[in-house]
Amino acid sequence: MELPPRPTLFDFHGVSMTNYFTDNWDNIQKFKARPDDILIASYPKAGNTWVSYILDLLYYSHMSPERQDSVPLYDRVPFLEIHMARFPSGVEELKKLSTFPRIIKTHLPVQFMPKSFWEEKSKIIYVARNAKDTAVSYYHFDRMNMMQPEPGDWNSFLHRFMEGKMVFGSWYEHVKAWWKEKNCNSNILYLFYEDLIQDTEGQINRLCSFLGLSATAELIKQVIEKVHFDKMKTNNMVNGSLDEYLDLNISHFMRKGKVGDWKNHFTVQQNEQFDEDYEKKFKNTDLRFKTVL
Ligand code: A3P
Repeated sequence: MELPPRPTLFDFHGVSMTNYFTDNWDNIQKFKARPDDILIASYPKAGNTWVSYILDLLYYSHMSPERQDSVPLYDRVPFLEIHMARFPSGVEELKKLSTFPRIIKTHLPVQFMPKSFWEEKSKIIYVARNAKDTAVSYYHFDRMNMMQPEPGDWNSFLHRFMEGKMVFGSWYEHVKAWWKEKNCNSNILYLFYEDLIQDTEGQINRLCSFLGLSATAELIKQVIEKVHFDKMKTNNMVNGSLDEYLDLNISHFMRKGKVGDWKNHFTVQQNEQFDEDYEKKFKNTDLRFKTVL
């Protein structure tokens, strides 16, 4: 299939976006969330797929094994705001979904959320990852994902990341605004990618208690095994190999899965500039990230 040209970024109510995530805007804003919906929100490349798969297994691994072997994760956990010609939109996919609760993916900044999620008090899990590893992961993702704008070289990409000129806008604004929202909304659980790496079991238990799920020790053990990076990397239902927009000859969707890979990309000068800028942007928050373990 011939792919359309890569999209370009434009300003959408103060946030850089591409048409793939704004074309269906009215339907997204009118989306009817339900009280039992579970939304996994994150800035791109924070580990949304990882948490989606964890939740899918916790809720649905008792269903037919065929589902695990034949239904790609992007069909089990629809992407709310996506809208591409030739494919059903995320909103349409969600209307058709027959599993309850629905597990939903979004990258929307908090101010863009459809209001029904707040009205219905749906549970929201926000996943956040430190800026440096997010930037590196996003760079490699944009190299291989033909539905993203051209990344250019690493140095220019990093500067655009610092300026917030990325799809879904500024990482800094995204993570801080969701953190602020979490502080006044008990229906939001804020998870860190670094904690998931360091203590997968502890974070899965945190998820279960937030969702009121009583998973058996056996189920948790199975989930931990299945969501290990090496297992996910070879699982075609979750590793991006079925997505024709991803060019796996350029990079992998399940690329490295590490904390601290930024050290292999940042020069000393880039690191100094980044830290200086970061400090200014993070003055007004108590949100803190680990960049090494
Ligand atoms: P890297 O590019 O650093 O490897 P998202 O799903 O939000 O797009 O995030 C993708 C990032 O999460 C990628 O980071 C990917 O490798 C990482 N990831 C996905 N599953 C993981 C797992 N089981 N363990 C560790 N990292 C994982």
